[in-house]
Amino acid sequence: MGMSWKFCLIGLITLVISSCLVDAFTKLTNIDCKAFDKPFADFKSCRLHVPKRGEIALSLHVRLFQIPVNNVSVNLAFFKKVSGYRPFLYNVSVDFCSFMANKKRFPFPNIFYSLFKKDSNINHTCPYNHDIIVKNLVLRDEMFGRLPVPAGEYLFKLMVGAYNEWKAEVKAYFTIKLNKEER
Ligand SMILES: *[C@@H]1O[C@H](CO)[C@@H](O)[C@H](O)[C@H]1NC(C)=O
Ligand SMILES: *[C@@H]1O[C@H](CO)[C@@H](O)[C@H](O)[C@H]1NC(C)=O
Ligand SMILES: *[C@@H]1O[C@H](CO)[C@@H](O)[C@H](O)[C@H]1NC(C)=O
Repeated sequence: MGMSWKFCLIGLITLVISSCLVDAFTKLTNIDCKAFDKPFADFKSCRLHVPKRGEIALSLHVRLFQIPVNNVSVNLAFFKKVSGYRPFLYNVSVDFCSFMANKKRFPFPNIFYSLFKKDSNINHTCPYNHDIIVKNLVLRDEMFGRLPVPAGEYLFKLMVGAYNEWKAEVKAYFTIKLNKEER
């Protein structure tokens, strides 16, 4: 009697977890990159592509013309589409060089950073004296597993500044669906 209760509970929990995590899926839908100070930095490329069936990847290449760069600020903002994109959950600014020097002090930027550190060449402390490259970044459902994000259409906006001036902006649009059938 006690045993079957436990199994039932485990079954129920598994069902809830699987419907929340396993059946959720995220997909990049569009990307938009802008350079505000082209003598400082410009996009050589900025695109979504399909590395293999059913996967959409983001790649970008930023050329830096005034190296070394040792003063970088970043603003991360999420938007959810509700008749136009409205700010949602996060709008965080960080001194990126301090962040890279001690990531554990910045929990949210660290979640975001961990999404793409493997797919980029930014994994080191300041200064940056080379082009910035992000290659084949794929959004994986697990990435949102720990964030309370409901299904919908989202915009992730990354603003990058140096020496107190915004230099570039990357807008990545994506959808989160809870049921694969909706695909
Ligand atoms: C984020 O917050 C800053 C300062 O609080 C504000 O200036 C900025 O407009 C906000 N950005 C977005 C995208 O809401
Ligand atoms: C990032 O750099 C740190 C320190 O050099 C290293 O320990 C870590 O493995 C790197 N992470 C990735 C994903 O390359
Ligand atoms: C970055 O540069 C700006 C403008 O020169 C300066 O005001 C700011 O203090 C610098 N930030 C850091 C962390 O050095």
